[in-house]
Amino acid sequence: MAEKSTELISGGIIKKDPAKLRLTSNLQGYDNLRKTFKWSDADKLVEWFPGGKINAAYNVVDRHAKGPNANKIALIYDDGEGNAQKVTFKQLYEQTNRFANLMKKLGIKRQDRVFFFLQRSPELYAGFLGAIKYGAIASPMFPAFGPDAIKDRLLDSGAVCLVTDSDLKKRFYEVKSLLPELKHTIIVGKDVAPDELSWEKEMASASDKFETVPMDPEEFMYLLYTSGSTGKPKGVVHAHKGIVQAHLTAKWVLDIHEEDVYWCGADLGWVTGVVYGVLGPWSNGVTQIGLGGRFDPDRWYKTIQNYKVSIWYTAPTAVRMLMAKGDDTPKKYDLSSLRALYCVGEPLNPEGVRWAQEVFDNKPFHDTWWQTETGSILITNFPGMDIKPGSMGKPQPGIEAAIVDETGKVLEQGEEGSLAIRPGWPSMMRQIWKNPAKYNEYFRNGWYYTGDTAQVDKDGYFWYVGRADDVIKTSGERVGPFEVESALIEHEAVAEAGVIGKPDDLRGNIIKAFIVLTPGHTESDALKADIQKHVKSRLAGHAYPREIEVVIDLPKTRSGKIMRRLLRARELGLPIGDISTLDD
Ligand code: WTA
Repeated sequence: MAEKSTELISGGIIKKDPAKLRLTSNLQGYDNLRKTFKWSDADKLVEWFPGGKINAAYNVVDRHAKGPNANKIALIYDDGEGNAQKVTFKQLYEQTNRFANLMKKLGIKRQDRVFFFLQRSPELYAGFLGAIKYGAIASPMFPAFGPDAIKDRLLDSGAVCLVTDSDLKKRFYEVKSLLPELKHTIIVGKDVAPDELSWEKEMASASDKFETVPMDPEEFMYLLYTSGSTGKPKGVVHAHKGIVQAHLTAKWVLDIHEEDVYWCGADLGWVTGVVYGVLGPWSNGVTQIGLGGRFDPDRWYKTIQNYKVSIWYTAPTAVRMLMAKGDDTPKKYDLSSLRALYCVGEPLNPEGVRWAQEVFDNKPFHDTWWQTETGSILITNFPGMDIKPGSMGKPQPGIEAAIVDETGKVLEQGEEGSLAIRPGWPSMMRQIWKNPAKYNEYFRNGWYYTGDTAQVDKDGYFWYVGRADDVIKTSGERVGPFEVESALIEHEAVAEAGVIGKPDDLRGNIIKAFIVLTPGHTESDALKADIQKHVKSRLAGHAYPREIEVVIDLPKTRSGKIMRRLLRARELGLPIGDISTLDD
């Protein structure tokens, strides 16, 4: 196993000369900090209310609006067509106050769940942070979600309020009648029904003054649903205390400085969009770019050029798509403003790291590792640290990470095993919503088990190996096979379905479905296309099987559970392993 690391770094370590960095790194003395750092040191970087109370939104917005940064641009929102809207910290403060006052007017209670089903827009940022400063639990949903995905989240969380827009609300209306606890629907846009509230009108009439609510650090701030191997998506709950670590990692890992222009491409429906597209960067008072519209290489390079982006946080699939477009495209643009590049979500190929070095004038991508559950970056390549291309880097000071076996025993260097973290970091999830059993499954033998397998080399660099479970990462997005299987069998032609991730050069993995047809249906391209369309429309635009294979039956355990492991082994020509539980 040890050779694997060597082979991956055969292209050479990327040496960093700290003296040559454009700005002095915020993190100095990593090795020493690994020994001496205490989380209580980081508590001093954020502001607290008397009595040990805190509010994440106060740190993200209010403290800048009340200080010298009041008139600094917080957000440059580009709708993707080149129409830009600029929002200062003071304006963001007033908008979040208005939304908090609207929450009050509606009688929303502390820790009620308030959901957002919106395209990225200035309204989304204002609503999300306004709900948090009010003391509600905020939850943004990915705009590509279909009715089933929306229903699962609103129902499970008992959401009382939804903010959506004239366009997206159609998908919500398909399931609205199934959501008795949802009392208020606020619509951004013109098409507002009599039983809905108009964002525009309500925000205009609400006061722009509001005293942000001091919260117990353990009270909940936001909730994001994510997928596991089995069952419906689970609600990962994060506390206000998490802002401490979001702040610190944005400062140390993303290396945010006052003068930077920062761009994170992730939608707020994903944890990256929340933590590093809102919380961490703004807590550090930086100007952020919000870009609407779809992926388009020219538009992306233009965004960097026109807004002079200096820090860029993106995903490996996007990097591979940019690579596929060729090196002539970036040459058309002035990208010299870039200072540091980061990636997250899936393994970043060494070629991607090195490609960036060539194309962006000696600036490699820094891979970062974390999860919805961890609430912030835990293992990473720091800007002042040598990069071994293909490695996720080293643990953030304060984080104890190890490769362990099923008994919790720490394995040797180079041995493959479960990636585990010692519990208790500030941004760790606090609950799986209404599902303590699921929460407890993560914690065993004194470790938090991440569900990833990895190894660590002699220099303490971590190397990703794969998932220990059936979770699929496609284009960096996390998809649960059970959700896709459930959507598939809703189609009249599908009797049974088993879903796996199949490795793909561009997307990391694609979703592949094996299906058994119901009697009376025969295999055809048209039928497969119809099944794909069905899954897309129910679940989400990205969560459909790009490949469908019709089979006569599926391998199952004696208790009737589909053995995805066998489907994967067969597909990839891998050894099939233990099949003692397989049904005849
Ligand atoms: C995967 C995204 C390899 C991993 C912030 C993890 C990665 C899951 C990396 C979490 C990386 C994330 N290299 N794999 N640098 N970063 N992953 O919850 O499998 O959407 O467990 O959070 O993404 O996905 P999630």
